[in-house]
Amino acid sequence: MCGIIGYTGQTYLASKIVLDGLERLEYRGYDSAGLAILTNGEISVKRDSGKLRNIREGLESGLPSNHLAIGHTRWATHGRPTQDNAHPHKDNNSRIVLVHNGIIENYLQLKSTLLEKGHKFLSDTDTEIIVHLLAENEKHEASFKDAFFKTLGQLEGAWALSVVHVDYPDTIFIAKKNCPLLIGLTEDEGNFVSSDITAIIKYTRDVVYLEDHQAGMLTPGNLDLFDTKTKTQINYNVERVDWNPVMAEKNGYRHFMLKEIHEQPDVIRNTIGTNTNEEDGSVYLPDINMSNDDLLGIRKIIVVACGTAFYAGLVGKYLVEKLARVSVEMDLASEFRYRDPVLDKDTLVIAVTQSGETADTLAAINLAKERGCKTMAIVNVQGSSIARAVDGNIFIHAGPEIGVASTKAYMAMLVAFELFALYLANLKSTIEVAVAKQLIHELKVIPQKIEEVLKDKEDILKIAQKYTQYKSMLFLGRDLNFPTALEGALKLKEISYIHAEGYAAGEMKHGPIALVDRECPVVAVVTDSPVYEKVVSNIVEARSRDCRVLSIASKGDKEVQGFSDDVIKVPKVMDLLSPLLNVLPLQLFAYYVADLKGADVDQPRNLAKSVTVE
Ligand code: G6P
Repeated sequence: MCGIIGYTGQTYLASKIVLDGLERLEYRGYDSAGLAILTNGEISVKRDSGKLRNIREGLESGLPSNHLAIGHTRWATHGRPTQDNAHPHKDNNSRIVLVHNGIIENYLQLKSTLLEKGHKFLSDTDTEIIVHLLAENEKHEASFKDAFFKTLGQLEGAWALSVVHVDYPDTIFIAKKNCPLLIGLTEDEGNFVSSDITAIIKYTRDVVYLEDHQAGMLTPGNLDLFDTKTKTQINYNVERVDWNPVMAEKNGYRHFMLKEIHEQPDVIRNTIGTNTNEEDGSVYLPDINMSNDDLLGIRKIIVVACGTAFYAGLVGKYLVEKLARVSVEMDLASEFRYRDPVLDKDTLVIAVTQSGETADTLAAINLAKERGCKTMAIVNVQGSSIARAVDGNIFIHAGPEIGVASTKAYMAMLVAFELFALYLANLKSTIEVAVAKQLIHELKVIPQKIEEVLKDKEDILKIAQKYTQYKSMLFLGRDLNFPTALEGALKLKEISYIHAEGYAAGEMKHGPIALVDRECPVVAVVTDSPVYEKVVSNIVEARSRDCRVLSIASKGDKEVQGFSDDVIKVPKVMDLLSPLLNVLPLQLFAYYVADLKGADVDQPRNLAKSVTVE
């Protein structure tokens, strides 16, 4: 949830590099930030609560030039977002300083022992115990390295750690367990540590992804890595990341979210890539890593995910069941891991995740592996923990997604499910070749249709102006567009703070209709589909309770004005592909409502982009 960046190198601008990196990491957490530098045998720490843009000047001012710095942007778990609780944390003698992502589960027990030994705690965080424990262990161990490894052995929980010690002025001590951490290497411009590639992509694309139970020392010219369980040195692979620095910039857009919405046509094209053949209706999934026999042996699929990715998974369920006739269960990853699900070797568990680091989704995959299931991920970040944990992947090529509210990753996840459902359907011969060809053809045309809607986005802005004053809204959809309604409601509530519920239109009479009145508008997805008439009657029922109705309808629909106050039209598309197109106006609607209300669209309150702790 929080972000880490560290740099050690020859340049004397380490603190600037780290502050710039923190700006790129802020989407991971943004209630406080800080950095530590090491100069002339002294550690200086600057930290404060608030968003980086408000505190950056204070953090920067008065820092001497330096060639090693570590920084942190925080999303509070233990302890309120105050200056004292902001990272970095120092030991009482100011010899050791560290930043940490994760949770130390046994911190209370460790803290009471350290208090007895005279350590003075200055924050309410679990993190601070690590730095005191390091100082305590250093007294008894032959070297700081030994103290570092001993400390890691005493911790329970999750960590990505970067530690600096005054006696090792060019070294960052690093460690990982259950929280992402990667190293960026350069030939001669110093080395980087970060929780996230976007913070360092400007400087290097050569990275080493740390595995759990690894720790080591990073200097300007070297990385030494050890297995903390066996204490033996290990070899590592340097991987080349295929993102580029421009992808992580706003490129003139007011917000990352708006930029990412506009990137969706290209994201769809990139995710389809060269993996379909319109002439014979076939699909190629280069990283699925499962034989045809493996796939034909699957009796049940379970999709595990959180947040927006869960709704993408729900569309996936509808698609796979419709096309490939395999039963698909949906599970929130946080439920799956604790509810003792029925799993066996004929079950395929699919994780859907943008970051590939969501703690619950990773735990769900690990559980599935323990129980002998086959595992797969639909994932954006190559090299992420989940991408590495599963048997096979479908990579979604959305590029870096910075806006906390996911848009382009959702779109790309839907494309991945279209491809997977078709792949499985072809294998099982549950789809006619003509339909497969049509699906591929229409899928490839979706980017143009999205561009058409984007061209008319000012119309959506005008409609959004009529909805900013409401406190609550109900989103309705049915069949393939039930998840679209859920995702539309989630987008709105996440960024505009208007309460919104997504509901299956047919379920409205069983509860939510009680909420509907002139103060609670209905947003309905009512594009051409076999359930069109059904959704219309649900809208009419709602409207007779005096509510305002905004309909998402297909171009050419002549009836929709009759039961709607406002209409956003989208081009006609094959029903199986309608969730891709229909979510777009809802993303724009949420964006405009939030922006008109003056909300911080890219960094909504209390949310974090990657939830890497439970
Ligand atoms: C957080 C983000 C959401 C995201 C969810 C799952 O809640 O704010 O945008 O959908 O995590 O993240 P993942 O990286 O697993 O897709």
